[in-house]
Amino acid sequence: MRLTYTSDVWWKNAVVYCLDVETFKDGNGDGIGDFRGLTQQIDYLAGLGVTCLWLMPFFPTPNKDDGYDITDFYSIDPRLGTLGDFVEFMRTAHDRGMRVIADLVVNHTSDQHPWFKESRKSKSSPLRDWYVWSDKPEPDDPSKVVFPDKEDSLWEWDNRSKQYYLHSFYKHQPDLNVANPEVRDEITRILGFWMELGLSGFRVDAVPFLIENVDPKLPDPHEFLQDMRAFMTRRKGGSILLGEVNVPYEDLVQYFGDGLGDQVTMCFDFISMQKAWLSLARQNAGPLADALRERPKPPKDGQWAMFLRNHDELTLDKLTDEERQEVFDAFGPEKDMQIFGRGLRRRLPTMLGGDLRRVKMAYSLLFSLPGTPVIFYGEEIGMGENLDEEGRLAVRVPMQWTRDGGFSPAEPVREVPEGSFAPDRVNVADQKRDTASLLRWFQLLIERYRECPELAWGTYTVLDAGHHAVFAHRCDADGATVVVAHNLCDTAVDAELELPGLEGQQLTDLLVDGTLDVSADDAKVKLPLEPHGCRWLRASPPEIAPEDAGVMSQ
Ligand code: GLC
Ligand code: CA
Repeated sequence: MRLTYTSDVWWKNAVVYCLDVETFKDGNGDGIGDFRGLTQQIDYLAGLGVTCLWLMPFFPTPNKDDGYDITDFYSIDPRLGTLGDFVEFMRTAHDRGMRVIADLVVNHTSDQHPWFKESRKSKSSPLRDWYVWSDKPEPDDPSKVVFPDKEDSLWEWDNRSKQYYLHSFYKHQPDLNVANPEVRDEITRILGFWMELGLSGFRVDAVPFLIENVDPKLPDPHEFLQDMRAFMTRRKGGSILLGEVNVPYEDLVQYFGDGLGDQVTMCFDFISMQKAWLSLARQNAGPLADALRERPKPPKDGQWAMFLRNHDELTLDKLTDEERQEVFDAFGPEKDMQIFGRGLRRRLPTMLGGDLRRVKMAYSLLFSLPGTPVIFYGEEIGMGENLDEEGRLAVRVPMQWTRDGGFSPAEPVREVPEGSFAPDRVNVADQKRDTASLLRWFQLLIERYRECPELAWGTYTVLDAGHHAVFAHRCDADGATVVVAHNLCDTAVDAELELPGLEGQQLTDLLVDGTLDVSADDAKVKLPLEPHGCRWLRASPPEIAPEDAGVMSQ
């Protein structure tokens, strides 16, 4: 494998960092994060090793769904800055070698969007068909209501124009109708606009809803995804779509464009994420191992996006009721920690009881799992949530830069947590100076992840480690191999791996000092692991130095 591939197909082993401009850094002292503040922190992100920033929605909005309710797709929320500030930010990010993608939220608009205001004026409005209207909708299936705490239907009666409109999410988010070619054209224009301003792609919000909840049904809903991707590739080769597609694996492959890979470039792996949490709860590698064994291979140049937490609830909707209850019991037993009957509104370190060893192991697992890691701002310093904030906002707290917060000199847009996850205990400044900190651990993991493109590019095999608590896998690419093992339990364990093809080779630790020998006779190796220990190892034949054995050297 040539390293040049990793610049053309850059997303395949990118390090994606999701942040909300509103909560990252306030540059003008009004308590609200903004593009000027973010731009000042670019070197922090570059120093961490981030290669791609994912910006949550930054467009004008009534802010009833934290910006996922947009009133103008071609502009910047004035609280966050101006288009000029955006361009300066983009230029600085590019200068530091970082790409930028942004949320594309076009399943719906805000009900305050001028398009919807026009559409609802009357049944004969020229924009009537931009949204989905019905005289008598099908009865609701309660399982399809995404936010059951606030909504009990997908349809809302509009008294003025005497029809119901469809809203897959909140009632203030009417669904755009991509069955209408004018709407599809407009979405393409939005892509083109932001790509012209430097974006390398989009995280596409709610993909299945976007193409399915339309009227009339499209003969081939996936054609629209193909068209979007083709348009982007024409404008700028190497631009990507990262899809939020939370559906079972067998239904998901078509979003990649089946064998062709001409639709969504990367999909979040919601299934292995949920199984990873089940594995962590049980201290048993089984569920995660099964998921990764069953996971379909994405088409060439496609990739899975791996994550443990994001800006939403930790959804456990694809687990059985019993499994979900196990994760609730382990990581969010109190009612206030749970949300929508399916998830947890917590960040990872609080769920793992603040146990730094375990937190480090969980992130080592994330970076080593086959795919592209996506992290949510603040994960690198182990920020906690603030359950006093409403709903999913609990995890969207201001970034903690210094002991007194450092997000803004003014009253911040959202309250930081108190207690052991407050800024005086968890902040960037302290962790920069502490070699044992989580921040330093992230830097190490990112450096190694980038040095081992086998992890993301290679063929992976989930290994039998001889112990239920150990998740072990190997990644092979062009004759180079990386072997990884994680101990999910809190006692020391001796794993035993069988590594066919590596008979007589040496395994060199990549995160600490150490080597192990693979038996020349039966390809077995004993692998001691500390409580919640993790090891990344590179295989090399005795006559070759480990530094020369990787794909990097080819
Ligand atoms: C996606 C987003 C979520 C938002 C919803 C509606 O699921 O991740 O934050 O509320 O779409 O736009
Ligand atoms: Ca501000």
